[in-house]
Amino acid sequence: MSIVRIENIAQHAGQSVTLQGWVYARTDKGRLQFLQVRDGTGILQCVVFQKEVAPEIFDAARQLTQESAVVLTGTVRADERAPGTPGGFELGVTELHVVQLAGDYPISPKEHGVEFLMDRRHLWIRSARQWAVLRVRATIMRAIREWLDSHGYLEMTTPIITPNAAEGTSTLFELDYFGKTSYLAQTGQLYNEANIGAFGRVYCFGPTFRAEKSKTRRHLTEFWMVEPEVAYCDLDGLLQIEEQFVSHIVQTCLRERAAELRVLERDLTLLSKVHPPFPRITYDDAVQRLQKLAAESSDPELAAQLKMEWGGDFGAPHETALAAQFERPVFVTHYPTVVKAFYMTPMAGRPEVCNSADMLAPEGFGEIIGGSERIHDHDVLLARIQEHGLPVEDYAWYLDLRRFGSVPHAGFGLGVERTVAWICGLEHIREASPYPRMLQRNTP
Ligand code: 4AD
Ligand code: MG
Repeated sequence: MSIVRIENIAQHAGQSVTLQGWVYARTDKGRLQFLQVRDGTGILQCVVFQKEVAPEIFDAARQLTQESAVVLTGTVRADERAPGTPGGFELGVTELHVVQLAGDYPISPKEHGVEFLMDRRHLWIRSARQWAVLRVRATIMRAIREWLDSHGYLEMTTPIITPNAAEGTSTLFELDYFGKTSYLAQTGQLYNEANIGAFGRVYCFGPTFRAEKSKTRRHLTEFWMVEPEVAYCDLDGLLQIEEQFVSHIVQTCLRERAAELRVLERDLTLLSKVHPPFPRITYDDAVQRLQKLAAESSDPELAAQLKMEWGGDFGAPHETALAAQFERPVFVTHYPTVVKAFYMTPMAGRPEVCNSADMLAPEGFGEIIGGSERIHDHDVLLARIQEHGLPVEDYAWYLDLRRFGSVPHAGFGLGVERTVAWICGLEHIREASPYPRMLQRNTP
């Protein structure tokens, strides 16, 4: 008995094989039972024909409920019309063993509300769309490591329990660490700035925590971020790394997850154009573009949303409108120093802007990367820590790095769920995580 997985079914055309899976759906056509069976790697149509199986097998097939666990043996037949993922094949069933007959399954093919589904996330991940998204997510995570590992970056783990704030103090999850206040990490970056002193090029890749108090389509309170950090690197060098890295991720998904992207009905036109170089605009230019769009808009509501003055941070409508002007992800560089983190290098001769860049995804999926050059001068950094009202003693080790072989360096962070939402074309980031954590949800 050779157990075959559905994603490899094409290699077994004409053979008798065994599948281990679950009934996704069943259609009763009298003497024919059509079972859509999923096994974790795909969905295959399995046909039970009364004439070709023992009577007890046909009876068992007729009683199968949605999500019953089954082991099936049969012959693989090529059939262009056969539905399923990857599709194009079906199984002519000869044997059927029911491992468990499932009770009434709460998620039916009919429409359910999002909260209903989110409450049943532990089951919802079996549905075709959710399954497809999480398969793409795993490929994105693999492509991330693949590119970095093959370009000389050493993976380092950074602590999740930390005394330091790095991305503003308003989104910290506080923790009582045996009497001393600590936080869940907002970033591993500060540690990576130490790690590059030992290894040159590093990355960390793990869960990240932000107590985001707003309910948006783009924010989670726990998300995954990959953060490369590079010694002897400036902003130009950083952007070249970012565009190659993101292109590799997108092209890997298009190559290896075509079937899943088809399940999601994702329009691949713009994704297929994701190759370096990506366009670069400055924050100054971005503000002018937004002011022009606001002035020319015939929709007063949109015009009001797009209105902005130099010095403010962009909101979702601004990012969407800017990205819509380009077919590829766009870099917005040199943000005002006041809207960005304390560690970003001020521009030489124009300290009111910093050597930073955000990468905005096309089609309204927002900021997927934030990155910058880091201040490598001890006294400038100390002054910034003080200006931001951060406790200097907790940053003593970070300041130390500026005393012993301090070099220009730069790095960035890419949010996994934002990237999944973009590549899969998801309206809301909650579907990009297996078990999302948001302002009003920390279950299941
Ligand atoms: O722009 P951010 O805050 O940058 C940093 O944390 C830097 N320390 C990274 C670095 O330079 N090493 O976050 C980086 C990315 C964002 O562009 C976004 O993709 C994602 O992390 N992100 C979130 N994703 C989901 N929910 C949230 N609340 C997020 N906050 C940031
Ligand atoms: Mg950011």
